[in-house]
Amino acid sequence: MAASARVPTADGKDVFSMRIISASNYEGMSRKAASLLAAQVVFKRDSVLGLATGSTPLGIYRCLIDWYQQGILDFSAVHSVNLDEYCGLSPEHDQSYAYYMDSNFFRHINIQKENTHIPDGLAEDPDGEGARYDALIRSLGGTDIQLLGIGHTGHIGFNEPAPQFVKPTHRVELNRKTIEANARFFASEADVPRYAVTMGIGSIMAAKKILLAANGEGKAEILYEAFFGPITPQVPASILQLHPDVTVVADEAALQVIGEKAPEAMKGC
Ligand code: PGA
Repeated sequence: MAASARVPTADGKDVFSMRIISASNYEGMSRKAASLLAAQVVFKRDSVLGLATGSTPLGIYRCLIDWYQQGILDFSAVHSVNLDEYCGLSPEHDQSYAYYMDSNFFRHINIQKENTHIPDGLAEDPDGEGARYDALIRSLGGTDIQLLGIGHTGHIGFNEPAPQFVKPTHRVELNRKTIEANARFFASEADVPRYAVTMGIGSIMAAKKILLAANGEGKAEILYEAFFGPITPQVPASILQLHPDVTVVADEAALQVIGEKAPEAMKGC
């Protein structure tokens, strides 16, 4: 079910409605989020999809693959732009996000390989790579819908808590909590890259629609802080309060703190 939450800005004024869609579990969250991406592709077959990695979107990709295999979806004209990539990992490295996207999504659907874009983690000039990537997104006409997860630090993409919001795509040093969280995918924590190239906050905010997915009680507090706390670069996802078209799809566990502290936002969910 869905509800629209009036989200107050830092000065206490309500400026827009954020939609919250609640699901009972991970599978439900995945199906509901996938159906919004599917609708985007049905409405506009040459959509530009902003895609994300991590544990959260895996079920979403499984649904989209399933619907493609049933003949419901056609990705042949779709372009994709991914949020981020680790510095120093080649696309063949099994923990690179290029590898993740290929093995978990792209190779199972009919998207054209040349229409899929991920920042180059091996670029010798990360600033130049950031500028190239932002220009590429603009040349595609901008992102129609950006899928996001949320990190325990409140990061979106790899935009970690920082003194200020960084607008363009850029190189970033990963936060300790993020390195610890991502160590589960590597042989040891020491193997987790320390830097990444990430779409900047400006690049994410330029997307026409935002679709943020979250599951599990571990995300409940940060989800509340992001959408009901102050807008601050210390919680990078909080900037989404200023985006005009945000849908949060989350399971009940992830929505628990919002339900407790902002119950009016959950009416109808
Ligand atoms: P997760 O990561 O989906 O693996 O929890 C989310 C994120 O770091 O953005």
